[in-house]
Amino acid sequence: MYGAGDPRQAPAARAKLTVPAMRARKGERPLTVVTAYDFTMARLLDEGGVDALLVGDSLGMVVQGHGNTLPVTVDEICYHGRAVARGARSAHVIGDMPFMSYQVSPMQAVETAGKLMKDGAFESVKLEGGAAFAEHVFRIVSAGIPVMGHVGLTPQAVHALGGFKVQGKRPEDAEQVVRDARALEEAGAYAIVLEAIPPDLAAEVTSAVSVPTIGIGAGAGCDGQVLVCYDLLGMYRGLSPKFVKRFAELGAAVVEATEAFVREVGDRTFPGPEHAFKPNGFATEDRPVH
Ligand code: KIV
Repeated sequence: MYGAGDPRQAPAARAKLTVPAMRARKGERPLTVVTAYDFTMARLLDEGGVDALLVGDSLGMVVQGHGNTLPVTVDEICYHGRAVARGARSAHVIGDMPFMSYQVSPMQAVETAGKLMKDGAFESVKLEGGAAFAEHVFRIVSAGIPVMGHVGLTPQAVHALGGFKVQGKRPEDAEQVVRDARALEEAGAYAIVLEAIPPDLAAEVTSAVSVPTIGIGAGAGCDGQVLVCYDLLGMYRGLSPKFVKRFAELGAAVVEATEAFVREVGDRTFPGPEHAFKPNGFATEDRPVH
């Protein structure tokens, strides 16, 4: 469709990362997962080489501005999922199961997972919780839907946990995290997110299970890492946990660019003659598209 060298051409296609390929990365090259909520960000992160994109219920906080993830609905996850799926050329796309969309029963869990796959265009789903949700995971996996587990700090339980706190610090709590991860593996989860647990516990869980562990605030001993895209890019201005590394400061760049736009419109230096149409010209002529 586009000529050779046109930047609108698709980059040399990498194969879509499948669930078996992700499982095979256990103990090999670390997996990279980043959250995404829209087409443009998904396309950029995919181009950057990320293995998987997670439409996390973190969207309740970083997109919708809530103080926690509880208000997010299945329809909202599906809406963002469809946009992200259109941007993901090779990255695997995972949909988060929101609060109270699966906790009621294994049957409710299967129905919600099915809706995410059909309406949200996801390739797998993720749910929070350990042994108490093993039956839910088993039923979803039995329906042919791959499931990523999530233990340690489970943000949907923020009120029960008394805040977004590090988990598994006491020996009995650490043992429970290991039991939870094992139960998820046994139920058929293909990978497990370990959130906000001490690094030595994360390393112990990683060697206790045969599926990849994906850490967030869990140290370097996991089989992969996940970050929220706005944290990674330095755009989120709210609560920033200690484990976040801002790989760029795009928030400051956005403010700076906006200030320049406001200034240039105000002093009439934008738009310049180069931004005006030529007679009989096309709207996109002479314009590099990145
Ligand atoms: O909702 C989310 O974005 C998540 C990741 C931070 C793991 O669950």
